[in-house]
Amino acid sequence: MRTHYCGELNKSHLGQDVTLCGWAHRRRDHGGVIFVDLRDRMGLAQIVIDPDTVEAFKAAESIRNEFVLKVICKVRLRPEGTINKNLPTGEVEMLASEIKILNTSLTPPFMLDDDSITESIRLEHRFIDLRRDEMQNNLKLRYDISKNIRQFLDKEQFIEIETPILTRSTPEGARDYLVPSRVHQGEFFALPQSPQLFKQILMVSGFDKYFQIAKCFRDEDLRADRQPEFTQIDIEASFVNESDIMTISENMIREMFFKVMKIDLPKTFNSITYHEAIERYGSDKPDLRVTLELVDMTEVMKDVDFKVFSSAANMKNGRVAALKIPGGGELSRSEIDAYTEFVKIYGAKGLAYIKINNKDHLNEEGLQSPIVKNIHEKALASIIELTAAENGDLVFFGADKKKVVNEALGALREKIGHEKKHLTGEEWAPLWIIDFPMFEHDDEANRWNALHHPFTAPKDGHENLLDSDPGSCLSKAYDMVINGWEVGGGSIRIHQQSLQSRVFKALNISDGEAKEKFGFLLDALQYGAPPHGGLAFGLDRLATLLAGADSIRDVIAFPKTQKAQCLLTQAPNHVDEKQLRELHIKVRSTSKSENKDD
Ligand code: AMO
Ligand code: AMP
Repeated sequence: MRTHYCGELNKSHLGQDVTLCGWAHRRRDHGGVIFVDLRDRMGLAQIVIDPDTVEAFKAAESIRNEFVLKVICKVRLRPEGTINKNLPTGEVEMLASEIKILNTSLTPPFMLDDDSITESIRLEHRFIDLRRDEMQNNLKLRYDISKNIRQFLDKEQFIEIETPILTRSTPEGARDYLVPSRVHQGEFFALPQSPQLFKQILMVSGFDKYFQIAKCFRDEDLRADRQPEFTQIDIEASFVNESDIMTISENMIREMFFKVMKIDLPKTFNSITYHEAIERYGSDKPDLRVTLELVDMTEVMKDVDFKVFSSAANMKNGRVAALKIPGGGELSRSEIDAYTEFVKIYGAKGLAYIKINNKDHLNEEGLQSPIVKNIHEKALASIIELTAAENGDLVFFGADKKKVVNEALGALREKIGHEKKHLTGEEWAPLWIIDFPMFEHDDEANRWNALHHPFTAPKDGHENLLDSDPGSCLSKAYDMVINGWEVGGGSIRIHQQSLQSRVFKALNISDGEAKEKFGFLLDALQYGAPPHGGLAFGLDRLATLLAGADSIRDVIAFPKTQKAQCLLTQAPNHVDEKQLRELHIKVRSTSKSENKDD
């Protein structure tokens, strides 16, 4: 139907007759001459319709926004003074000889270049929203990323193998989405939270290097970086150790960043242990663009008079930590109050601070703060020394259970770092977090849970801790973090049934339960499973980072809302009684009193 795309026309096409198809982006009537900006996937072209071309002019008069047109026209130079340098096609315009309206359009619910529309309106009318440049670019970028990654993995001899969507529960720790079986009354498939078990079985079957761009489903609380349905770049390989998987992943990400965005990531990524990440940044996914660090003050504060500090310092699982803000002496009272409110989100009870006016005077004169009078001189000297504070700096403190201090100061560190530009360095800060603990303790249920998943191998030499001291047992798991986002994670797996049983035991999973849940994998492990490992990247998160988007929803064509609904299709929805009966399902009343019993 057409000879060219609108967005590709330029001076090299001068004098040519072209046929274009697209949407009327905007129509301007300049008393006598009509201009239509015609839009297609490649961009905009300015069509000029002269009243002398009677038929075309008549058609142009009835054109409204988003009408679909076919235009036969000649490319000519724009007159002096009307050149638009901001538009790739801005030096030329197309004089129309024929216009055909291929379809009309209702008045769109919003203008494509209106930035003020709410997300729910955008999602409800996604077919219009996806016409916007930003969404077109984001989805093209997403395709570029997956294309590049496929090419890279293909070059490295990985093969893509599909695994089932209708399957059994997989062990990633979120709630499952369930699908009732019509044929087997009262039985359910689970949608995969990841292809974890299948990819391990593919290793047992000798495929050696597997990958899949795989849909995963998790019914969990949603945030800006989480969707109930998302896409993993899932990888597994045999006869590998941690460094093999980390090297190949790093090369894949580096090559993809360069090919897609011309971004040069460092030759090797830093790697720090989980323990160090928590100590220094209060987070296992720190944004290392921010130069601030937490400094531990627990030992120093054990015997000070200020009870908030000394009691946290002496508490089991307590911590006192400092966060020095260079130049922070200039923070206003209201800024400090706002930060104090901010840390409360994370359960902190307050945010003590000291302004360093003159570090040579270790008293209320040199150190401006209501708490200084209750901290002895030796501890004050340690604060200055350990934080390397200078005059004009400010030091914040958190004192509480470790978890609260780490989360509160970790979040504050990133907030202040991003607000005060001088505290933020590199544009891209990728790193690996390694040496994760095998388990985390669930205090409520008084049991150990797998921090990654139960198939993760313990670090060499740590096997004996499985029984004696599970809390100290480290694993062969690794996460890749970029600019504060966990973009990928994985591990070397257990390939021997005996070790797998010991891990289940530490997790308080009985033989019967293990057999019931993962029996097929445990069986497979007994038939010559090779040493193997892998990881999975979140494609949506990588695309969000590279697009510079605010939310993962902006790189997914048809995302769910924070409430796990699709506003376009209005899913999930009620279904016919007949369908339910076929599935042997009866919906319980959703009245409040019923929910309480659930
Ligand atoms: P994990 O659970 O860490 O590991 O997931 C791997 C990566 O997937 C992305 N991701 C998500 N992205 C969007 N929305 C979500 N709800 C969501 N959940 C996870 C993250 C994360 O780093 N089977 C293991 C991998 C392995 O061990 O090989 C797994 O699924 O970027
Ligand atoms: P108070 O003794 O409660 O008046 O607190 C004195 C200072 O300590 C105030 O700046 C509080 O914000 C701060 N503060 C109180 N509790 C904590 C805490 N758990 N961690 C850090 N600072 C705190």
